[in-house]
Amino acid sequence: MTQRIAIVTGANGGLGESMCKALIGQGRKVIGTYVPGHDAAATSWQEKMKQQGFDIIIKAVDVSDYDACKRMLEEVESSEGSVDILVNNAGITRDAPLKKMQPDQWQAVIQTNLNSMFNMSQPIFEAMCSRGWGRIVNISSLNGQKGQFGQANYSAAKAGIYGFTKAIAQEGAKKGVTVNSISPGYIDTPMVRKVPENVLNSIVAGIPVGRLGQPEEIARAVVFLTADEAGFITGSNVSVNGGQYMA
Ligand code: CAA
Repeated sequence: MTQRIAIVTGANGGLGESMCKALIGQGRKVIGTYVPGHDAAATSWQEKMKQQGFDIIIKAVDVSDYDACKRMLEEVESSEGSVDILVNNAGITRDAPLKKMQPDQWQAVIQTNLNSMFNMSQPIFEAMCSRGWGRIVNISSLNGQKGQFGQANYSAAKAGIYGFTKAIAQEGAKKGVTVNSISPGYIDTPMVRKVPENVLNSIVAGIPVGRLGQPEEIARAVVFLTADEAGFITGSNVSVNGGQYMA
């Protein structure tokens, strides 16, 4: 069987790196995207991955820009081949209570965390359907399920991902294309480490498992949902949150 090609957005971020490694472990060819303008950091990350035995092709793309995503996906299709697996992982936070939240904080999070789902999926969805196989995994969040003080923007974007996932899951179902979401809880990443220490301590105290999650624990769900054997799982959400919220 030919090697399947996977794209992971936000590849060199807290969760993305583990996802890339896990997908390579499954025999996938992996293309990781990073934020334009951060070429030096991305190249040195790619080198570090190579030294660890993981060959990752990297592409700069602004996931909030539809035309840029479409161009990058066309480039990948012509240089590497058709994209079979898409993990929409890139995301940002701009936390503030609503009374202090500014329009630019709202827009940035909606554009990067929600509009990116459309920007990356739309250009390749039809081709996946006509080839009769595809896997799309959208990274949502515990905070899209339950809401979070200080995250009106992030909670709204992450909740929007569920509707998007379930709608296109229906469109891909008869064509062999599955679409699912994963809702990570608080995982030990730079994003979570930005939360003020006293706030984070009280959050961890409310996690039944008693600790932050590890990025590999999210990657494990990505591998599960993108497996060749996962063709009957579509429109689902997998919560990976240490029991913090049982939806
Ligand atoms: N519930 C109720 N009250 C809360 C609260 C909560 N969860 N968090 C803070 N408050 C209260 C404080 O006790 C304080 O009250 P007083 O004014 O009465 O003392 C008040 O809110 C603080 O208000 P401020 O206007 O001063 O807020 P701030 O400008 O200091 O910012 C914040 C507050 C940005 C929301 C900060 O609390 C914060 O960063 N919270 C964490 C948000 C969070 O969990 N982000 C997740 C990031 S990781 C991620 O998103 C990954 C993922 O998917 C899980």
